Amino acid sequence: MTNNLPADLNPEYLPQHVAVIMDGNGRWATQRGLPRIAGHRQGAKTLKELLRCCKDWGIKALTAYAFSTENWRRPTEEVDFLMLLFEKLLQREFAQMQQEGVRISFIGDLSSLSDSLQTQMRLIMAETSKNQAIHFIVAVNYGSRDEIVRVCRQLTQLAQQGELNPEDVNENLVAQYLYTAGMREPDLLIRTSGEMRLSNFLLWQLAYTEMYFTDIFWPDFDREAFHQALLSYQKRDRRFGQVKTTLTA
Ligand code: FPP
Repeated sequence: MTNNLPADLNPEYLPQHVAVIMDGNGRWATQRGLPRIAGHRQGAKTLKELLRCCKDWGIKALTAYAFSTENWRRPTEEVDFLMLLFEKLLQREFAQMQQEGVRISFIGDLSSLSDSLQTQMRLIMAETSKNQAIHFIVAVNYGSRDEIVRVCRQLTQLAQQGELNPEDVNENLVAQYLYTAGMREPDLLIRTSGEMRLSNFLLWQLAYTEMYFTDIFWPDFDREAFHQALLSYQKRDRRFGQVKTTLTA
């Protein structure tokens, strides 16, 4: 079901899964003479709006890169602020997301987060696991290389224990051991703020994903900006390595 979908978008050819690298929060704030953390606070509001928009427009999954394995290198006070922001947001928004049927998953190495945040995240995942309106996937302490190394380690251990034959290692098996096991791969990746790199985000999962880059800073990425990203997506011919695709979204 789609609600208020702009007339120039084809509801039959929307991405089912959108991933976002929310870049430019710090610059957005600095431009306004505000501390960087004000950018993160505004960025969180933008993410909430985007989630609502995806749900309205019938997009089935949204993945957001909230904190990378490299982000620990930021000044301690910024890292502390982000962790507190996650905790507060989850407390504040949980009831409403539950009510709206949002399934929430966290991907990444959660074991380095504070005990209270880990407990909160695991509870939210369990309590929303049956929800079906939209799947909201938040990458926290996520690094794609780290994810792939973990898979290698797990599969090697299984082989060593005689539970896995190396001949049986294939793409499907690897995918089943990623944090994203069972999730559809993103159809569209959006990165804001003019940067054009993947920054260790979903390297395996983005193999056939369409990419969209915009100069807009994340806190300013509103419905209209998303509309433009979707228009661009709908102009593309996804071939998945073939000559001509008969696949639709
Ligand atoms: C990148 O901008 C943004 C981040 C590292 C943090 C993003 C996190 C949120 C918006 C909060 C989301 C919360 C939940 C619970 C999902 P930047 O700081 O790298 O900006 P810059 O490149 O301008 O410095």
